[in-house]
Amino acid sequence: MDKIVALCKRRGFIFQNSEIYGGQNGFWDYGPLGTELKRNVRDVWYRDMVSAHNELLQPAGAPSTFQMVGLESSIIMHPQVWKCSGHYDLFHDMMVDCHACKGRFRQDHIPSTPCPQKPSKSVGEHTGCRLTEPREFNLMMKTIIGALGTDDDAAFLRPETAQGIFVNFKNVVDSSRVKLPFGICQVGKSFRNEITPRNFTFRSREFEQMEIEFFCHPSQSREWYTYWRDRRYNWYLNLGITKDRLILRDHHQDELAHYSVGTADIEYAFPFLDAGEYGELEGIAHRGDFDLRSHMEGKLAKNAAGQLELERTADGQPKHRGSGKDLTYFDDQTRERFTPHVIEPSAGADRGTLAFICEAYHEDQQPDENGTMQERVVMRFHPRLAPVKVAVFPLIKKDGMPEKAMEIYGQLKAAGLSVQYDQQAAIGRRYRRQDEIGTPYCLTIDGDTAKDGCVTIRDRDTLQQERIPVTRIVDEILTRLKG
Ligand code: GAP
Repeated sequence: MDKIVALCKRRGFIFQNSEIYGGQNGFWDYGPLGTELKRNVRDVWYRDMVSAHNELLQPAGAPSTFQMVGLESSIIMHPQVWKCSGHYDLFHDMMVDCHACKGRFRQDHIPSTPCPQKPSKSVGEHTGCRLTEPREFNLMMKTIIGALGTDDDAAFLRPETAQGIFVNFKNVVDSSRVKLPFGICQVGKSFRNEITPRNFTFRSREFEQMEIEFFCHPSQSREWYTYWRDRRYNWYLNLGITKDRLILRDHHQDELAHYSVGTADIEYAFPFLDAGEYGELEGIAHRGDFDLRSHMEGKLAKNAAGQLELERTADGQPKHRGSGKDLTYFDDQTRERFTPHVIEPSAGADRGTLAFICEAYHEDQQPDENGTMQERVVMRFHPRLAPVKVAVFPLIKKDGMPEKAMEIYGQLKAAGLSVQYDQQAAIGRRYRRQDEIGTPYCLTIDGDTAKDGCVTIRDRDTLQQERIPVTRIVDEILTRLKG
């Protein structure tokens, strides 16, 4: 993992936020290559889930055809949203402090290393830390709206993008002619005041989510849950994550969130974890009708019989009032009115990006120009995700080669591709620079180009080199990028 973190900094993928001031724990910045990579993760997700989705065809494994639309809601919402969603009362971790080293930990994340102040095992709990009783700590970040700054002006930065979708459910139905079943998709920032941000970008305080809320008839919700679980798992495999590092894990009954009827996690064997451990990339939750009903009726809770009912204060009043708006759906074919059930595939864009970085990292040995074996770091990104798609090199800086190379560079740029031009150093060094950032294809313009009208295309993974006509370059690259 240390090598991956070092590469991320050296080549401009990920930087510590506010680094020149010593950094801000739990926040990260993406450099030029990281920005391209993460944008590709988001774009590929949006394209695969929304833009390229054909609502006229029934995808394999899906119970029926369906529609998918996008949404972009704001980060700050009405405070009542978080009361009805359950975040205000329930979105907390248990926190403990150490009297000795003043460390603050999540109760379930107490480090196994000795307390730096009291490493004796005779004091307090296992590690030497003298821990306080666990206390609840709400993870939502507070902010103030307006000039007065009173408690009444407090608002929260959203801890998930999902609620923006639920509160717009009726707007989308009324404005876009969608019919059940359909999904609303949103990509955007979320904020959580994590007690112990750690493992590089894995647990951050500001991060990006890619969420789908899929609305369907209650009688079909189990089938849709299975469909989305499998489809989302395969999405990562299709983008190059290998099966032996990716698992689909069903939650035990006692792990389920208060609203959930069933949840599965897609988890990845990140290199910072112990062997056999996995970290969550995405959760697929069957949320039933909890969210839409809570925003209609007020915050719901499960009663002794396991049924959702309005949560009430001691004097019988609703604990948190809902909007009172009708968020049911009317099916004009069956003439039935009901509250849709929701399946939620909720992915982290930063965790996905980190998994793709970890998966891409490889070291091997390749001969240099003189035939001496050299260690090579190669990022084997899937071509759709690679931050730079193609590099263009004139073999030498004369005989018209730079001019031809610049012309080809211009054509690739005009086709909207992320391209690098490099004429510095020996060709082997240039290849290695591109391998280290995961560029799938390099084009070399050499002495024969002027004669035969061809350039050499070199594949990052197979190392195969082929001659292709200059006139076909853009088409050839676009075809190869499609995979
Ligand atoms: N709407 C459901 C929801 O937010 P979640 O499991 O809390 O569910 C979904 O979050 C995804 O968001 C996670 O699988 C993870 O990829 C990402 N995520 C959550 N907390 C994160 C954090 N502190 N840092 C980075 N990513 C995070």
